[in-house]
Amino acid sequence: MKIINVGLIGFGTIGAGVAKVLLENRQVISDRLGAELNLQKIADLDITTDRGMTLPDGILTTNIEELIGNPEIDIVIELIGGYEPARTFVSRALQSKQSVVTANKALLAKHGNELFALARENGVDFYYEASVAGGIPIIKVIREALAGNRINSVCGILNGTCNYILSKMGDEGADFAEVLQQAQDLGYAEADPTFDIEGIDTAHKLAILTSLAFATPIDYEKIHVEGISAIKPVDFAFAREFGYKIKLLAIAKQEDECIETRVHPTMIPESHMLAKIDDVFNAVFVNADSLGSSLYYGQGAGMMATASAVVGDLVDIARNRLGDNLRRVPDLSFQTAAIKPRTYRPMSEIISQYYLRFLAHDKTSVLSKIAGILGSNKISIASVIQQGRGQSGDTVAIVMQTHKAKEKDLRLALTEIDQLSIIAAPTAVIRMESDL
Ligand code: HSE
Repeated sequence: MKIINVGLIGFGTIGAGVAKVLLENRQVISDRLGAELNLQKIADLDITTDRGMTLPDGILTTNIEELIGNPEIDIVIELIGGYEPARTFVSRALQSKQSVVTANKALLAKHGNELFALARENGVDFYYEASVAGGIPIIKVIREALAGNRINSVCGILNGTCNYILSKMGDEGADFAEVLQQAQDLGYAEADPTFDIEGIDTAHKLAILTSLAFATPIDYEKIHVEGISAIKPVDFAFAREFGYKIKLLAIAKQEDECIETRVHPTMIPESHMLAKIDDVFNAVFVNADSLGSSLYYGQGAGMMATASAVVGDLVDIARNRLGDNLRRVPDLSFQTAAIKPRTYRPMSEIISQYYLRFLAHDKTSVLSKIAGILGSNKISIASVIQQGRGQSGDTVAIVMQTHKAKEKDLRLALTEIDQLSIIAAPTAVIRMESDL
């Protein structure tokens, strides 16, 4: 039986998962592939910690040169994460005409265009299924299954840590810091949790999906990013009263030849399928012209789910090699000539409904002053809830849901409102999306 040799860089949680799948599912993989995927080398700085598995002798090395450029190794897997030395290792492997599999969304969001160009120049495959939504095969869906569609929008819950935190805060009224710690203990959070809670990890993933869906180069800088650290337990209670859930949503849509890409906490109706995605799970909701709406749901993080996606990529590349058909699927779904920079809608021009939570001193005519300023800025109010007196004595929370309005108009109104002497703290804003 033909053997395809694989080298793994990075023997952390996901790396150990990949090794486990390759060793334990060796038979089922070769039954499908008609060849053997052989894990020939694993490189890591730490080769002494017990990863709970027995490896064949001689596999582990601290010397990266035993993998990169080694003519016996056909496919290199990069699982060290981050920008460097991942970028250097991946570039060198591609230049050595080794195909590469990565789970590294940060690397792709920042250097993807240059790395895909290298893969093209060297005639090798560069696959990255695990980089977006972990085990959910959303890259394969967009690149292959939906190839006959024009995609209108892609909206997703793409960060397990944030979804876990928001679910727990919503269901249990739990404290943000305590739930973040739980997510870290469970191994969901990135090494630097800022990437998770400030929406950066989600935006890295959205940058990749936007390129795949809309035939444009990967451009992380074009994404508007807001995280979840400012959401308060009281916002979940008000969301419930309006019939909404709060999710960190990644939104990419194309309208009037303009692309809109944003990541921010979003209130979505409880009846929407994305509102039902809880805990560490991820989901991607795609609207395409032939298929209509479809939802892809599963584990977006974790050792074995992510390993499943990495090994799926290995099998794809191995099949391409066996069929002498490397580069069968274009890296970013479209032929290079079709990938063009597109116009992105500035955030000030987006249209949304808004949840507004004002903290006001309990004086007469507060409500009419706020309503007057909103009205004079073309913001129309859909509903209002006024709480009883706050614990601090003379302040009250006033919560409003607006009709659809332009972001620019809302910001002008809030600048004016937050300067009023009757307003005790900056107004909290969460966008509400009812027609995803
Ligand atoms: N920290 C990420 C998450 C891991 O929480 O979803 C997968 O990218």
